[in-house]
Amino acid sequence: MASRLVMLLGTWQPDRAVAASLADRVRALILDGRLTVGERLPSERVLAQELGRSRATITAAYGRLESAGYVVRTHGGGTHIALPHSSPVRPTLPGSAPIDFSIASTGSAPGLHEATIRALPRLAAQRGGTGYTLEGVTELREVIAARYRERGVPTDADEIVITSGAMHALALVLAAFSRPGRVAVVEEPTFPHAMDAIRRAGHRLVTTPVTAAGWDVGHLTTTLLDLHPHLAYVIPDFHNPTGANMSDADRAVVVATARSAGTMLIVDETCADLDIDRPFTPRPFATFGDVITLGSLSKIAWGGLRIGWIRASRAVVSRVLAVRPTIDLGTAPLEQCIAIELLDDVPALQRHVRSRLAAGRAAVHAGLETIGLSMPQTYGGLSVWIGLRGFDSTALSLAAHDHGLRLPPGPRFSASGVLNGYLRVPITLDPETTADGMVRLAEAWQDVHRGSVSQAAMEHLAVV
Ligand SMILES: Cc1ncc(COP(=O)(O)O)c(C=O)c1O
Repeated sequence: MASRLVMLLGTWQPDRAVAASLADRVRALILDGRLTVGERLPSERVLAQELGRSRATITAAYGRLESAGYVVRTHGGGTHIALPHSSPVRPTLPGSAPIDFSIASTGSAPGLHEATIRALPRLAAQRGGTGYTLEGVTELREVIAARYRERGVPTDADEIVITSGAMHALALVLAAFSRPGRVAVVEEPTFPHAMDAIRRAGHRLVTTPVTAAGWDVGHLTTTLLDLHPHLAYVIPDFHNPTGANMSDADRAVVVATARSAGTMLIVDETCADLDIDRPFTPRPFATFGDVITLGSLSKIAWGGLRIGWIRASRAVVSRVLAVRPTIDLGTAPLEQCIAIELLDDVPALQRHVRSRLAAGRAAVHAGLETIGLSMPQTYGGLSVWIGLRGFDSTALSLAAHDHGLRLPPGPRFSASGVLNGYLRVPITLDPETTADGMVRLAEAWQDVHRGSVSQAAMEHLAVV
């Protein structure tokens, strides 16, 4: 079996001196998180064989990485990924600040300040207690349970655990249930931090494809029935990064198939409220059967609140609560009190996010037209997932650096290092910044066409 590095290098072909080109590609993999610090690289001999290159070439590539601080080599201990000590220099263009397309998140909801003030008496009322609540403040759990009931999912407060965001919710579920060595299914593409967390919990990742047009449910169900994975992680609403939405019929099939395969379904609803003009409203996965749902206020209220939750059966909740003290002792009560206030007017949160996303989507659409790329059907969510018509998104990402644009390449969203022909562009930034970013993207596109990506971009790829 080819090493993970060879898999991640995918269809890489040197565009100049082989050792320099290989070192740049490996550095790109390190800096966008696909190779992790401490990970061991294949020996020079093995990599030379796998790539069909001379050992001297691989030695030269590893040497370049070592002198730049991206690997450390020990006698007899192999070659391991590292990061240079000095932080990389950010691009500075005269008169323009860098634009960051690597984070897809809106700013805070307009009512956050007032909600914080209104939350203070609630916090004061909690002061008699210890402040530790593993499961979360009861009133917030009740408010969230009521939202599920409104969406057609019978839910009691004791089926909710408040967490510090959806990523924390996933970490708690993994701590309670993961089985190192067993298979976990993730979508291809998917939210990179979730995929990294599942891999770090020891699972072998197997992928199932998603495009802006949706899921290949036949592929997903066959994978479940053939492999009996331990768990599957899906983002069925405004999928990150494609923006796709799974139909009710497909949800029913996926839940039933997962049940017969003995697979635990983890359903991430972090993006569920990011609706601009979706022509249908799917039913929550939990209406179709027993799943673990993750939720969050990060996208409709503010990422800085760090409020998320798990909705699951009481049996799952009690296992999560049993393991939680080894990780943390509860989510901060002030943030929970603010969340109660914010959830008092969900339609206001949704209205705000809708207008922001609609403006961002329009700006991306206009920018793509000037490049000559087509805009996929996108009804909401965090981003647009763009097919590059065979263009190399890692090269584009490097070129974007020269224009002060941070742009993660498509493979960052892939568990197997593919999808280099795709790009995620967020629709969450304000429209002026998005439009400016799209101009820079168009300039980078021209640079790649001309083959004029600078060496400085290669050196400073950490911004990707
Ligand atoms: C699908 C998905 N899940 C989870 C998160 C992180 O959410 P939180 O800030 O609640 O941890 C994100 C953020 O982009 C996301 O897109």
